[in-house]
Amino acid sequence: MRTAVLLQLLAATASWALSKRDYDSYDYYAVHLDQRASPEDLATHLGFQLDGQIGELQHHYLLKAPKTDDDLLHGAIQDLKSKRRKRQLGTGGYHILDGVLLNQKQERRKKLFKREEALERDLEGTVWSHRADSDMPVDSKVQEGLDLAKALGIKDPIFQDQWHLFNHVETGHDLNVSAVWAQGITGKNSTVCIVDDGLDMDSDDLKDNYFAAGSYDFNDQVDDPKPRLSDDRHGTRCAGEVAAVRNDVCGVGVAYDSKVAGVRILSALISDADEATAMNYAYQENQIYSCSWGPPDDGRSMEAPGILIKRAMVTGVQKGRQGRGSIYVFAIGNGAANDDNCNFDGYTNSIYSVSVGGIDRKGLHPYYSEKCSAQLVVTYSSGSGDAIHTTDVGKDSCYSNHGGTSAAGPLVAGVYALMLEVRPDLTWRDIQWLTVLTAIPLDDEPSDWQDTPLGVKFSHQFGYGKIDAWRIVEAAKNWTNVKPQAWYYSPWLHVRKEIPQGDTGLTASFEVTEAMLNKANLGRLEHVTVTMNVEHTRRGDLSVELRSPTGIISHIATNRRNDEFNGGYVDWNFMSVAHWGESGIGRWTIVVKDTNVNEHSGKFTDWRLRLWGESMDPAIQKLLPLPDDHDDDDHDAETTSAAVGTTSVDVPTQTGSPAGNPSDHITRPVNNKVSSTTVLSSPTSTSTTTAATPVEPAPTDDNIDDHEEEKPAASATAAPGHSNFLPSPFPTFGVSKHTQIWIYGALALIATFCTSLTVWYILTRRRRQKNARDEYEFEMLDEEDDDEGGRGAANGSGMNGAKGKRRAGELYDAFAEGSEDEDVFSLGDEDEEDDRYRDEERRSAEGEARGSEERGRGRT
Ligand SMILES: *[C@@H]1O[C@H](CO)[C@@H](O)[C@H](O)[C@H]1NC(C)=O
Ligand SMILES: *[C@@H]1O[C@H](CO)[C@@H](O)[C@H](O)[C@H]1NC(C)=O
Ligand SMILES: *[C@@H]1O[C@H](CO)[C@@H](O)[C@H](O)[C@H]1NC(C)=O
Repeated sequence: MRTAVLLQLLAATASWALSKRDYDSYDYYAVHLDQRASPEDLATHLGFQLDGQIGELQHHYLLKAPKTDDDLLHGAIQDLKSKRRKRQLGTGGYHILDGVLLNQKQERRKKLFKREEALERDLEGTVWSHRADSDMPVDSKVQEGLDLAKALGIKDPIFQDQWHLFNHVETGHDLNVSAVWAQGITGKNSTVCIVDDGLDMDSDDLKDNYFAAGSYDFNDQVDDPKPRLSDDRHGTRCAGEVAAVRNDVCGVGVAYDSKVAGVRILSALISDADEATAMNYAYQENQIYSCSWGPPDDGRSMEAPGILIKRAMVTGVQKGRQGRGSIYVFAIGNGAANDDNCNFDGYTNSIYSVSVGGIDRKGLHPYYSEKCSAQLVVTYSSGSGDAIHTTDVGKDSCYSNHGGTSAAGPLVAGVYALMLEVRPDLTWRDIQWLTVLTAIPLDDEPSDWQDTPLGVKFSHQFGYGKIDAWRIVEAAKNWTNVKPQAWYYSPWLHVRKEIPQGDTGLTASFEVTEAMLNKANLGRLEHVTVTMNVEHTRRGDLSVELRSPTGIISHIATNRRNDEFNGGYVDWNFMSVAHWGESGIGRWTIVVKDTNVNEHSGKFTDWRLRLWGESMDPAIQKLLPLPDDHDDDDHDAETTSAAVGTTSVDVPTQTGSPAGNPSDHITRPVNNKVSSTTVLSSPTSTSTTTAATPVEPAPTDDNIDDHEEEKPAASATAAPGHSNFLPSPFPTFGVSKHTQIWIYGALALIATFCTSLTVWYILTRRRRQKNARDEYEFEMLDEEDDDEGGRGAANGSGMNGAKGKRRAGELYDAFAEGSEDEDVFSLGDEDEEDDRYRDEERRSAEGEARGSEERGRGRT
């Protein structure tokens, strides 16, 4: 066991030289191979060349072959299957192609959009000032700012304009970082990687902190991510927010003695394999990845990172930063005015990313910042007549109009850099815990603050509140690391009911028992995810809430007026951080609503609850397998047994949805406990926990320090509710809770062992079937058999197979005026009208519009 871990670590630290891709002359195939298949042998068999491992993904390789329209590897696999079916080949023997667990022909696609949002400008180009005359500096604060600069030796000319660092107008509205700096904590030994459109390493304000070894340009395939296009300015501005040097140029970064690296991916089309490599680039040295981009924030897109990128993020949190986990910070998105919600963005709603929204210099919610249940924290950005002042591209250029959630994310990355200077041993989850416990609630409306059992407040608009550098660094100093991550997955829960229109919702619930969580070794919750299938002829009409046993409500999906997609939710993962610290025990309820009474209607097919959190016993806790590990079994069966393959075609699918995954649904165990699928009237009225009261001060340092002690308290709170739902068959043995946990832990161990045996038996016997922990993404090879490219787009994995072509180097400003958005996305797309329905089934984003045609053809 230990040796295996060591070997893994060794392999993880071996760095793979990046070979240059030549996408104009070659096709690239990403493959995931099982232990038996050597990449060299596979390349030889196919007549391809081996291009190397994909970033840090073990057993994942890129193969290259001269360019053709066909997917040669897919063709070869189909060929083999068909020969086996016709018995031209023995079915038993191992073939090198059987070792191919995943095959993805790579395409470079532009799909990621910067999340900047500048303030309006007048015709002369000067920024509109909406600031009222009453916004006058507070004299005493001005003096305090000058004294601070003097004490710290800050001579940077625009430091006094950097209100986000020290605000002498709206006092208190800043990062509260000065007392941290005064302790000499300035980010030394911390490294932030700006994943963006470049970083001007020659800027006098950045060069001393530039970390070349952690930097790479994936667009132009050179070492230094120098901004090369006229609008490659975003990354440099973000870098300045984090690590602008304390000198006589512009201002300073939050962590002005930290190192900053740049990884350039936004300036041209990029393939999934390259993006996956970028997300793990130099992941032992780069500690924090700051990502101010994502799918379009148009209120219509529903896109998640492709499977390689998902695996890269899991690999990052498991192996990056010497196993403590890479920290991914994501800007939440600027689509609020389009009704967009960051739960429709698979990057921001990943449990592996810290999602950061914006507030303005007055602590108000700016019109652009999205709300969602996956939002962890907010910090300052543009609005109320000012924006973030930072470094710009050029030798000594400054910028005063950096905004949108793009500008918020890097500030949190900078605060984390300060925290890591003090506590480099914090894991990726410690950092999320500290953020939850130290963020400060704000009192701007919408005041949907809920008091959570953890003793903090959560709002969909502001997450847990605004980050406070001093509070989080102080709390970090004495923080006890959380135990490893554990998880509990419910079975697939079938509902298959029409969703009523109007204010009533369709409700389904699932009871989580203490025994289930004991068995899962899950002590207390952090993230909660819900995977859902809902058929609907207009996706934007739907909304979904999740209620925990303690009554906390997560609005995991909200209506989106622009979202016309005809196909509902397909195996989509929604995420909530609102249940942080709950025990998880008791009845979880999901309410699906279709509030628009119109001709569009739908059906709630099924759902699955996943609880993630801190393990009870770290000694027995395993690492999460990479997404889709169990599908490996499935794939093996598929390629070796034609008989089973037919079964999945013959059995009618339950979903009837345009983009489903039949075999996945067939084998989901039907859980009879999906009790009482009932229609509740006006469910919102039951939300007794929603606090309309003024915001209380955030938790004191005492309850931060005592976080370990809160666990029993939290469980106790849940207990009465629990016994209402479940007259527990589990005796207490008249012993203390801890002893009970111990006893049940031991029983759980035995149960786990027996279950493993059973599972092993079932898997062996029925390899074709998918296990309850299966992920949908891995059906690629099967899917292609049935319906080329027609699947997956809506479930977010559509990005995997997309073959959209875009003009290289073309940059879209996703955040131009709303009307321009439409133009931009429909640009040059004459057949969009004719193609509308198929298009919409095939893509989750307008950004892939042009791809769908080619996709259909290309995969034959
Ligand atoms: C800001 O930092 C100071 C220390 O300089 C601290 O006393 C204060 O509590 C912090 N502000 C908040 C709101 O926590
Ligand atoms: C930075 O890291 C090095 C090596 O890990 C260590 O020796 C040094 O003390 C650290 N410096 C600070 C300021 O923490
Ligand atoms: C951290 O712990 C030490 C010793 O246990 C204590 O002296 C110190 O006050 C604590 N610091 C904070 C910020 O709680």
